[in-house]
Amino acid sequence: MSSTPLHFTRIDLPANVRSQIIDILNQTLANTLDLKTQVKQAHWNVKGMDFYQLHQLFDEMSSELEEFIDLVAERVTALGGTALGTARLAAQTSEIPEYPIDIFDGKSHLTALADRYAPYAKLLRDGISETDDLGDADTADLYTEISRAIDKRLWFLEAHLQAEGTPVSTNGSSAETKATNGKKKSKK
Ligand SMILES: [Fe+2]
Repeated sequence: MSSTPLHFTRIDLPANVRSQIIDILNQTLANTLDLKTQVKQAHWNVKGMDFYQLHQLFDEMSSELEEFIDLVAERVTALGGTALGTARLAAQTSEIPEYPIDIFDGKSHLTALADRYAPYAKLLRDGISETDDLGDADTADLYTEISRAIDKRLWFLEAHLQAEGTPVSTNGSSAETKATNGKKKSKK
């Protein structure tokens, strides 16, 4: 059951379904609020030769998260729930690891953000299947929309970090690891 009371609504989804969806959405709200402050932290503190483009990229990413925060919170209220959207509530419940405050160069911020966008993307994908299983195609669609955008942002972050022309095997390991594995196998 949801931790907050359900409001009356004429929506046709059963109360027990709405209650479970609201809990899932409020967890996403906390994660997204937390991640948004972390992206701002990077926006303000990044330094180095790529300062300006990273400063702008991080601002764009934070504005995007702000839009998702509003979409998620308003889906909670549309389902008759209470959006749990204060900074203190977000800090208590977020599943995203805390952001380091002692990093400054662009590569460190890109890595720290990629390390947080990846688990956030996974949690969103979990949200798609969980809300779909509960029979709420609209919330699943909302998760799908956010998930697709976050996967794209993870690509933006990782594209800065991937060495030019480094081949990667189909399972994501580096070509070097693949070659080593191949040698070991051929010796047998
Ligand atoms: Fe700014």
